Amino acid sequence: MTLLEVSGVSVTFDGFRAINNLSIAIGEPELRAVIGPNGAGKTTFMDIVTGKTRPDTGRVLWGELSVDLVKMSESQIAKAGIGRKFQKPTVFEDQTVRANLSMALKNKRGPFAVLAWKATAADNQRIVELADEVGLTERLEHRAGDLSHGQKQWLEIGMLLAQDPRLLLVDEPAAGMTPAEREHTTDLLKRAAQTRAVVVIEHDMEFIRRLDCRVTVLHEGSVLAEGSLDHVTKNQQVIDVYLGR
Ligand SMILES: Nc1ncnc2c1ncn2[C@@H]1O[C@H](COP(=O)(O)OP(=O)(O)OP(=O)(O)O)[C@@H](O)[C@H]1O
Ligand SMILES: [Mg+2]
Repeated sequence: MTLLEVSGVSVTFDGFRAINNLSIAIGEPELRAVIGPNGAGKTTFMDIVTGKTRPDTGRVLWGELSVDLVKMSESQIAKAGIGRKFQKPTVFEDQTVRANLSMALKNKRGPFAVLAWKATAADNQRIVELADEVGLTERLEHRAGDLSHGQKQWLEIGMLLAQDPRLLLVDEPAAGMTPAEREHTTDLLKRAAQTRAVVVIEHDMEFIRRLDCRVTVLHEGSVLAEGSLDHVTKNQQVIDVYLGR
């Protein structure tokens, strides 16, 4: 099933067309990689889906009912099931991994639930599952501030998964990670994408190869090529504008 359908979207910043008649469809479940040169519009694509940036033209249709996200606020879009991971991890450094995951779970229940919130046995079970899913079981009682950069990224992914998004958007997760951390990150994104849509922007080709998924190449705000990594890396235009630099 098509979960997200971006169609004919254009965005202009001060006369510069950053997104140009962009059309992309993402299925559910699906893992999708988005690559392309600096300034291609990859991050802006995510900004449009999350409602941070408003397109001048085009539609962003979501779910079974094909509701247009362009007409919704950022918080309505998040509530509809779209989670986004930014480059810089935003975890609560003074709190433990367990407390961070716990807060993410309670946020899911909304602002009123937070007031009278107490972790139930089911919540504690879910926290353990989430920690296992992102590989932080051994770190549950550690301060988030004491985690490595990669572990903080995984914690943040765990906190997003706690909200149970239907679509998870991840912008350059491998930046600043060790090779072992990168490997773990591809594993956890692949696992997360078994039950939901996950879109990953990344420049690291080794990382993209390991994701082993459909790849969309953006260039000057449009799709230049799409298909398997082998397919797009054979494309002469892709070599000219991105790979051959
Ligand atoms: N809020 C904004 N105001 C003005 N220009 C912007 C804004 N956001 C993005 N741009 C411009 O739009 C173009 C696309 O930027 P974007 O950040 O989407 O590229 P990207 O593909 O994510 O690049 P990178 O690989 O470097 O992260 C760039 O030329 C950028 O300078
Ligand atoms: Mg970017």
